[in-house]
Amino acid sequence: MEKFYIDNMEFIIREATKTDAKALIDYLDKIAQESDFLSFGIGELNITLEKEETFLENSYNQDNSLMALVMHGERIIGTASMAGGIKPRFRHVGEMGISVIKAYWGKGIGEKMIDYMVGWSKQTAIIRKINLYVRSDNVRALNLYKKTGFEVEGAVRRDMLIGNEFYDSIMMGMLID
Ligand SMILES: CC(C)(COP(=O)(O)OP(=O)(O)OC[C@H]1O[C@@H](n2cnc3c(N)ncnc32)[C@H](O)[C@@H]1OP(=O)(O)O)[C@@H](O)C(=O)NCCC(=O)NCCS
Repeated sequence: MEKFYIDNMEFIIREATKTDAKALIDYLDKIAQESDFLSFGIGELNITLEKEETFLENSYNQDNSLMALVMHGERIIGTASMAGGIKPRFRHVGEMGISVIKAYWGKGIGEKMIDYMVGWSKQTAIIRKINLYVRSDNVRALNLYKKTGFEVEGAVRRDMLIGNEFYDSIMMGMLID
């Protein structure tokens, strides 16, 4: 758990537990409506409460995975996830994803979440590499990742199909030592 302040507002970053499942589903529905840069669009998530609870429970119990929430009061306003590899040869690799509610963009919350995830990764002593995929036209996220030390490792063509249009992704990574 970590507290930080922006514009006199208090935010808390903490690990999600099973009891956050309902609020998290509502959050994901909301961010799907706010940008087209995520791996799911409006109404595409279709996740049941039970499935979300299981996901959060698994993530909580895995030493190389983390679902972190940024809370403003009682409200989830951002999330950062790290999905660690399952097979022994991939356990040192974590795939990261982040999102922030649009009303809170541009305040430095994304940067705080990345710092938190990198700090957590170091402290696990298991994660030695963070990978992420970002849509090649997501300038805001690309800038944020570059600024926080991620390096471009490659391009993945036709990574997403939204409507009739294909989108490429940029693969970025950070070594954790
Ligand atoms: C990407 C996202 C998480 C960034 O969160 P955020 O809280 O707005 O990010 P920050 O305020 O910490 O911004 C940090 C950096 O992002 C970049 N940035 C911010 N606003 C920007 C803009 N309008 N244009 C370009 N770059 C911008 C800058 O480098 C900025 O640093 P600076 O303010 O010191 O110049 C958020 O915009 C989001 O949730 N987007 C939709 C979902 C998404 O794209 N997730 C990532 C999928 S890979």
